[in-house]
Amino acid sequence: HNADKGEFKHYMLKEIYEQPDAVARTLEMAIDNHAPNALRTDFLERHGEQLSGVRYVQVIACGTSYHAGMVAKYWFESITRLPCSVEVASEFRYRNPVVVDNSLVICISQSGETADTLSALRDIKKQNPAGLVSLALCNVPTSSLVRETDIFLPTLAGPEIGVASTKAFTTQLVALMLLMLKTGHVQGRIDDEALSNHISELQKLPGQLYASLHLDAPIKAMAEHFEDKKSCLFLGRGLQFPIALEGALKLKEISYIHAEGYAAGELKHGPLALVDKDMPIVVLAPKDSMLDKLKANMQEVHARHGELFVFASETSGIEAEDRLHLVNVNDVCETLSPIIYSVPVQLLSYHVAVLRGTDVDQPRNLAKSVTVE
Ligand code: G6P
Repeated sequence: HNADKGEFKHYMLKEIYEQPDAVARTLEMAIDNHAPNALRTDFLERHGEQLSGVRYVQVIACGTSYHAGMVAKYWFESITRLPCSVEVASEFRYRNPVVVDNSLVICISQSGETADTLSALRDIKKQNPAGLVSLALCNVPTSSLVRETDIFLPTLAGPEIGVASTKAFTTQLVALMLLMLKTGHVQGRIDDEALSNHISELQKLPGQLYASLHLDAPIKAMAEHFEDKKSCLFLGRGLQFPIALEGALKLKEISYIHAEGYAAGELKHGPLALVDKDMPIVVLAPKDSMLDKLKANMQEVHARHGELFVFASETSGIEAEDRLHLVNVNDVCETLSPIIYSVPVQLLSYHVAVLRGTDVDQPRNLAKSVTVE
């Protein structure tokens, strides 16, 4: 494998850097650069009728793929007004869940072989609710998951070798956005003008992702503050809450530092008790509708002598000060901000892990694909 890493020290870093291209490829499935006002007619062409009957969306996944599903829930509900639930497959499959009629069941899996996700799907198919539409959002076209579902929506990330998922995650987010737009549009929940606006924002993504890779150097410097830490908190609100969870998962997977992701509004219901100078607190602060609330949460931490590491929009008004380290991220539209803010948390985990000398691509006790329960 060594040669394939090219100039990169690890597959994970290579895969982080491949994200602008992987996202561009995934976008091309649905968007024709010469006709940028609408989705390509051949995108999910055979499934328009199935998608038009959907009244409820149920997402099932594990690990990083589950976090992509959490973002999709915000998108589906706020933009299409279709109700959407998301659950980890290992819980869903054992609680005898209700699957309502006319559900779109989205199984998200990089590998398409995760045992819990497959079992959850099989149980739903056994229940056989009326109007069920099952969809695999998957990076491996030949996988079991793809064979067992009605619709295959590919992520075109290319092979992902690092155990910690990076480009599979960001391409899952892009594909979920495209699926949400298609479903909303065929149902008349998203009109032509809104669709065209979403598409023009999506087309900026590869360039914005490329720009976010320039944060590598400042984040590498920031990582030194984490090297000898025991525990770490990631905070976000709204669309950034799933990215806070994903950031914490990445850090614990590859650096072995205990990390927790939290919805910043929940701070006062527990984690504030942990705040001291020894627990770094990472904050995701794009310029969005939650920014003022988030700033108040940051203040709560700062006042208790917490040390903040903030990824913030250039126009957020947040400034570096004592115990507040700042890395500025380019301004992006609120809807797509989780895709862009994935990059700094990936880079932070990567550099902390490298400093701690762990096996970044092959962390102890973990597997790329969990095919047994
Ligand atoms: C393992 C991997 C994770 C991945 C999860 C789900 O835990 O280490 O990176 O997110 O499985 O895998 P899937 O292939 O179903 O997305």
